[in-house]
Amino acid sequence: MAEISRRKLFAYSGAVGAGGVAAGAVLPRASSAQTSEPAGSATSIANQRLPFYGAHQPGIAAPVQAQGWLTAFDLKPGSTVAQLRTRVRTLLRDWTSIAATTMAGRPLPSADDAMAYGRGPGALTVTVGVGASLLTKLGLGHQIPAALAPLPIFLGDEIDSASSDGDLALLVAANDGLVAVHALRAMQRRAAATTTQRWQTNGFGEAGGVMPSPTATSRNLMGQLDGTGNPKPGTAAFDQTVYVPSTGMPDWMRGGSYMVYRRIRMLLNTWDALDRRQQEVVIGRDKVTGAPLSGGTEFTAPDYEKFDSSGQLLIPPGSHIRQASAEFNSGATIYRRPFSYYNGVRGDGSPDAGLMFLAFQQNPAKGFTIIQQRLAGADTLSTFIRHEASGLFAMLPGCAKEGDYLGRALLEGV
Ligand code: HEM
Repeated sequence: MAEISRRKLFAYSGAVGAGGVAAGAVLPRASSAQTSEPAGSATSIANQRLPFYGAHQPGIAAPVQAQGWLTAFDLKPGSTVAQLRTRVRTLLRDWTSIAATTMAGRPLPSADDAMAYGRGPGALTVTVGVGASLLTKLGLGHQIPAALAPLPIFLGDEIDSASSDGDLALLVAANDGLVAVHALRAMQRRAAATTTQRWQTNGFGEAGGVMPSPTATSRNLMGQLDGTGNPKPGTAAFDQTVYVPSTGMPDWMRGGSYMVYRRIRMLLNTWDALDRRQQEVVIGRDKVTGAPLSGGTEFTAPDYEKFDSSGQLLIPPGSHIRQASAEFNSGATIYRRPFSYYNGVRGDGSPDAGLMFLAFQQNPAKGFTIIQQRLAGADTLSTFIRHEASGLFAMLPGCAKEGDYLGRALLEGV
């Protein structure tokens, strides 16, 4: 318990159990005897609860979650813009209510399918975003943030438009698949009358209990520690990288963030043909410890000017961390929060696997785009990956308090 409680975002379940019941929960919850089990036990996962209300949507800074689904929707045509705005307003109100209820581990007040009956929230988060196309359809073209300008086409892109973009994006993640899908299904059912689902993708992270410590860096399917160079949630550097500040424009995005989604396939068979040393040279870090090849431990700052005895740069010119680092990208920083995917094999027998790559930032033009423009041309890792789907969404500011709803400033402030 003590270990997990270091993740300050979680409210724990002495809290959850009692609070849930007081708030009218009817589902059976963990008994107090169960909640004294150690961190990482089944019970402690059931009781992980992230607060829904706050300045930011909690799914952005949430600790790594075991399962994640990203779904995009398009509005069905309506006869008038006013009608469409009303539809979106009621949809966002209802989504807000479903998100708040399921994240608290409570059953939905009506038509709950019981899919997660008796299950704890398992760190469930529901994060909602809008695409530029939604604002155009709602007659709010003048409210489209400059930061939502379409991403350029990058060298090597093989983007499938049918599984890219969309009017609305929904990221549902939890430490349990059933709990996540319960919330997702409820939101999909609610959206069905006024939207069509454009695409859906899913991935997985590591469940807290499997990692050496609750704050350890996750591994990806290439076997690397992925996330070392990220700004850390809870720090000023994180807030400055990720969230639109209180003075930012447009005002309806203050406290929100821009999410770039890329489905990046890993050519794992080609990658596996490299030996460990070759793989480390591609990234610029030790595969096991995550330490930069210039020396030290995982969190030692890379020394990009250090040479070996034969005069070679220890972190090679084409290595991923050199090409991606803020130092060589005019200070551009992003917060990467990927999920892995592994969906069987393609026609040629090679794995359909990779990263459901999510990058959060204040403005993609000063973050993802600058970095990706460089990576696409100069990163050795490009040989082993393919960008196959893409999306850019304005992830709404948090819902400050009960009675409020996600997107209110957008829909009522205009
Ligand atoms: C399948 C694709 C990718 C893989 C496997 C991958 C893997 C990694 C790994 C292992 C690291 C070093 C550890 C860390 O700091 O997390 C890293 C760092 C980084 N990656 Fe990637 N990455 C991928 C795609 C991307 C993309 C598309 C971008 C942005 C456009 C990006 C941006 C970064 C940044 C900014 C860092 C930190 C660099 C620093 O230390 O300053 N990566 N990535």
